[in-house]
Amino acid sequence: MDNQDVNITIIDRDGVSHKVEAPTDMAMNLMEVVRSYELAPEGTIGICGGMAMCSSCQCYVLSETELPEMQDDEEAMLSEAFNVQDNSRLGCQLHITPELEGLEVELAPEI
Ligand code: FES
Repeated sequence: MDNQDVNITIIDRDGVSHKVEAPTDMAMNLMEVVRSYELAPEGTIGICGGMAMCSSCQCYVLSETELPEMQDDEEAMLSEAFNVQDNSRLGCQLHITPELEGLEVELAPEI
């Protein structure tokens, strides 16, 4: 493993767990990582292109990983989205940084 990468576990919508490595130096967000590993069918995730406007990238955070606080647009979108839980976040708003090492998330159901 390159030390620019963090290890993330992503549980897909079929309940299958995937351990992936995500680069911290490519300005990627979690939604883009899910797409790049094709863990959700094309067209079911990242619909708004990562603008916090569709909630297709919603995920549930299962690990205790410390995450950056939600910004207003993420909070607003999640207040309108379906299947929201206390641990919901928008994947497109989570940028891949070294702090995300060990993160474990589950993709929310398709919208
Ligand atoms: Fe649309 Fe994240 S991709 S809200």
